[in-house]
Amino acid sequence: MTNVQHTAEPETDPEKVRLEQVAALTDPATIRYLEEIGVREGWTCAEVGAGTGSIARWLSNRVGNFGKVHAIDIEPAYMEGITAPNLEVRRQDITTTPLEEGAYDLVHCKILLMHLPERERVLGEFAKALKPGGYLLVEEADIRSIQRVDPPSPLLTRAAMALETFFYFGGADPGYGMKLLPAFRRTGLKLLGTDCQLTAVQAGTPEMRTISLSMAKLAPVITKVGLMGEKEIEAVFDQLQQPSDTVLYTPVTVSVWGQRIGE
Ligand SMILES: C[S@@+](CC[C@H](N)C(=O)[O-])C[C@H]1O[C@@H](n2cnc3c(N)ncnc32)[C@H](O)[C@@H]1O
Repeated sequence: MTNVQHTAEPETDPEKVRLEQVAALTDPATIRYLEEIGVREGWTCAEVGAGTGSIARWLSNRVGNFGKVHAIDIEPAYMEGITAPNLEVRRQDITTTPLEEGAYDLVHCKILLMHLPERERVLGEFAKALKPGGYLLVEEADIRSIQRVDPPSPLLTRAAMALETFFYFGGADPGYGMKLLPAFRRTGLKLLGTDCQLTAVQAGTPEMRTISLSMAKLAPVITKVGLMGEKEIEAVFDQLQQPSDTVLYTPVTVSVWGQRIGE
């Protein structure tokens, strides 16, 4: 086992906090799928769109001194504190620099492809990057679930719809999670498993922070393009942060994994 160091710094950057919240919410399921795949000592792994590097760190510990982990991100600043002899952090745009073909025992990405207009091509490149017998685990979100609010709140549902609309502007697909399974089948890999995660969160609780932080990140753009007014956005934050019986769902995370067979 490799001992990974993580030098902690004061958590002030809201984007770092947001990415940490996403990881805290979704990593336990990811680790279950990686356990089921059977990640072993000596494997070479690619963690693409690694974010804060929490899963890269887990993989690094698991593959040990004879294994390797490439933690790839277009903006790897949030992995600065993570070091291990078997872990290489790479600044890389996966849409312009594909993974090396036939190089990996495992390729994993989470909440990445939905943001990339080239998602189908990149998914195909991930499949080609596997060694024969190698595994691909892809996990993508469908954010439309956040439109369901109980008791009904037209304001919160409107905010959720504004978020969805905003995703389309940059070529992202807010509903990609639901399209992942057929896309995965088109890669020709042998399908081994699928699962999905959905968490109910109540207004005014710490768990609501992930949704609040995502809303806060996009609020200036949402108001700028006129999807909502500033006063409405303030009312949205009030409803999310004030303790009440209001319940929302997180985005659904759909996970699909499979293996390159033959050759
Ligand atoms: C929503 S975050 C998810 C982070 C992490 N996978 C997780 O689930 O906690 C998406 C990550 O993908 C990275 N990313 C976005 N576009 C990318 C690209 N073209 N190439 C590599 N990384 C990219 C972002 O910088 C960000 O760290």
